[in-house]
Amino acid sequence: MLDEAKLNEFMGQMLTDLGGAGSIAMVRMGDNLGLYKTLHAKGPMTVEEFAAAAGVNQRYLREWASHQAASKYLTYDATTQKFSLTDEQAMVFAIDDSPFNMIGAFDATVAFIGNQDKVEPAFKNGGGVSWGDQSTCLFCATARFFRPSYKANLIDHWLPSLDGIIDKLQRGAKVADVGCGHGVSTVIMAQAFPNSQFIGYDFHPSSIEHAQANAREGGVSANTHFEVATAKDYPGKDFDLVAFFDCLHDMGDPAGAAAHVRQSLKKEGTWMITEPMAGDRLEDNLNPIGRLFYGGSTMVCVPTSLAQEVGAALGGQAGEAKLREVITAGGFGRVRRAHETPFNMVLEARP
Ligand SMILES: C[S@@+](CC[C@H](N)C(=O)[O-])C[C@H]1O[C@@H](n2cnc3c(N)ncnc32)[C@H](O)[C@@H]1O
Repeated sequence: MLDEAKLNEFMGQMLTDLGGAGSIAMVRMGDNLGLYKTLHAKGPMTVEEFAAAAGVNQRYLREWASHQAASKYLTYDATTQKFSLTDEQAMVFAIDDSPFNMIGAFDATVAFIGNQDKVEPAFKNGGGVSWGDQSTCLFCATARFFRPSYKANLIDHWLPSLDGIIDKLQRGAKVADVGCGHGVSTVIMAQAFPNSQFIGYDFHPSSIEHAQANAREGGVSANTHFEVATAKDYPGKDFDLVAFFDCLHDMGDPAGAAAHVRQSLKKEGTWMITEPMAGDRLEDNLNPIGRLFYGGSTMVCVPTSLAQEVGAALGGQAGEAKLREVITAGGFGRVRRAHETPFNMVLEARP
């Protein structure tokens, strides 16, 4: 017998989900056209005032703002007919450096959709889609998605959670940031620790070019260097710290990468592995964060790994047990979870 109440509840979820999916373009236009920032700086405003302040067409803006109010992404006061952003809404949409800024997640979702044409056939043939062949905005979206979390956590929480690392970094350490992408984490660390030297490696040449540009913009060209290299063949040696930010699970041969890290470290060196937060069992991850990451993993992480040698495809919800397996397979004797946030876990591996 069909349970009408359950069906209605499920249809309610569909409405919410489709509404969210329909918000992707709306949020990105709000960001690209500076609508959130304008409203944050000058609101509350009527549509007329808002359109003049943002320099956009009033009719389009009325429709956009109505959608955003219906989404509860901004606030509408029916008495004054003015729109505004609460402090909390501004943290998510208007303030670039806020730890809660979510625009990068909307950008990443577009990249996932853009990957469909390549990932869908891979379901049939089991092949991979290499990182460089994926939807073109994926790389910028990834950098933007991770930046708020790195800015909020890396210097103040993650590095201090590692045994003795802050002291070494302050005195002057040699650090590798492997799978550095656009170098967001490299630049943040290089700014905080000017006595240390940072080398960013990534196998994607255009990401390395972006990383070099970001380092110039961030004023850290002097203590950063970027090179195209894979996690299994980067040439540097004698590192005090090797860091992998949200990339170990993307690699085809994470155990091979672990072995390469091991031989590139100083005797008392540290390998820092930041990975998406996940439990070890599927049932631990059937929640909103698991949902988000399994989606990204299907469209990006698994195809990226399957396009490489071995093709371990740990997935974006690998969980600590699987990560430990590949880390210890690479010759690391001590592994501990040093820190965690709702989105990330930080593992410390020592030889
Ligand atoms: C999800 S992105 C993370 C980028 C960066 N660490 C960040 O947090 O913004 C994964 C990165 O891993 C890199 N990558 C994947 N497999 C790799 C491999 N085998 N060797 C080197 N880099 C790799 C990709 O090019 C990409 O930049």
